[in-house]
Amino acid sequence: MAWDLLLTECRAATMEGAGDGAGYGAIEDAAIAVSGARIAWIGRRADLPKHTAKETISLGGRWVTPGLIDCHTHLVFGGDRAQEFELRLGGASYEDIAKAGGGIVSTVKATRAASEAELLESARGRLARLTAEGLTTIEIKSGYGLDLANEMKQLRVARALGRDGNAAVRTTCLAAHALPPEYAGRADAYIDLVCNDILPAVVAEGLADAVDAFSERIAFTPEQTARVFDTAKTLGLPVKLHADQLSDMGGAALAARYGALSADHIEYSAESGIAAMAASGTIAVLLPGAFYFLREKQVPPVDLLRRHKVPMAISTDSNPGSSPTLSLLLMLNMACTLFRMTPEETLAGVTRNAAAALGMGATHGMLRAGYAADLAIWDIARPAELSYWLGGNPCAGVLRAGRWVGRAFQA
Ligand code: NIG
Ligand code: FE
Repeated sequence: MAWDLLLTECRAATMEGAGDGAGYGAIEDAAIAVSGARIAWIGRRADLPKHTAKETISLGGRWVTPGLIDCHTHLVFGGDRAQEFELRLGGASYEDIAKAGGGIVSTVKATRAASEAELLESARGRLARLTAEGLTTIEIKSGYGLDLANEMKQLRVARALGRDGNAAVRTTCLAAHALPPEYAGRADAYIDLVCNDILPAVVAEGLADAVDAFSERIAFTPEQTARVFDTAKTLGLPVKLHADQLSDMGGAALAARYGALSADHIEYSAESGIAAMAASGTIAVLLPGAFYFLREKQVPPVDLLRRHKVPMAISTDSNPGSSPTLSLLLMLNMACTLFRMTPEETLAGVTRNAAAALGMGATHGMLRAGYAADLAIWDIARPAELSYWLGGNPCAGVLRAGRWVGRAFQA
């Protein structure tokens, strides 16, 4: 066998079977061979077949995991919402602020006012912070444009970030995120615009890989959400849903009815919704940053998800209003402390299950021959450390599609 790169003397958390209590799919004293953009071979070093490699690097016993996957972000936006944070600390709720014309709509104003180049520059800086922590795939939503030109602008910026090559970028059109001010009192007319104009144009330009919506008292009704999903289906795009974040809107069941890739947040989902997700193969995306930052009290139904065997993903939900974070590792810690998940579950949540939440489970999220050569290398003694540290960054190197994105260790 002729390989481009051989990594040896490492410990691999392959994540095969992980999250089901099967350990991390760990291989002690492993070797990983890369050819082009893919993993060519992985196994125990003692079992290495006869080979040649253009380059061989000893990792000195470091751990290797699949590159981390952040499957729910709103990374492209203008402005910030620090002032709103102060209002909330003074007693106003997230919903109060939204109803008073702030919240998402204030970020819409700032995003509309920003040029494409400005949005690209600020989002590029944020993405660099995430990739430094071992991220190799990210989903980025629109939803701060809320008209044709500005939704397209956000999605073009997300696509441009993908062309930088440091992370694979999946884009999601979230035009049904909030009601833009010019449609006040006319939500159905705005949904007409989303279905008749925005989604078809976004698809014609190849700007979206999926469609998302926010079904909530302060956003869109289940009926309006269903119209958006019907349009997405007609256009051939998979759907995802911001479901049951602030109240039980039957969002989990609605997402399942449309065979959604994921239902996200789901703090308030009922057991019937969780059972429906299990039947439809919909991934639960849990967002501890938003839970923490909004001081939510209702914990997502982790035990029900376990019982119904719904795979759980964890994500930053990085956005200026409800989760201004640029650390996916911090989310692992929060999912353990706030949601009582295990470190193994949380690591599966940012690898294998996050890949599934993006429809990428056949190529990403595990260390397996034939899968993408997206690897994170860590200065840690055991995988649980990735959930254990509250801040700090033990990432020693990142390989994305077989190419070094960062490497901070001496071979
Ligand atoms: O995922 N829930 C709605 N959307 C975002 C918040 C966006 C915002 O407040 O700007 C979320 O929490
Ligand atoms: Fe979100």
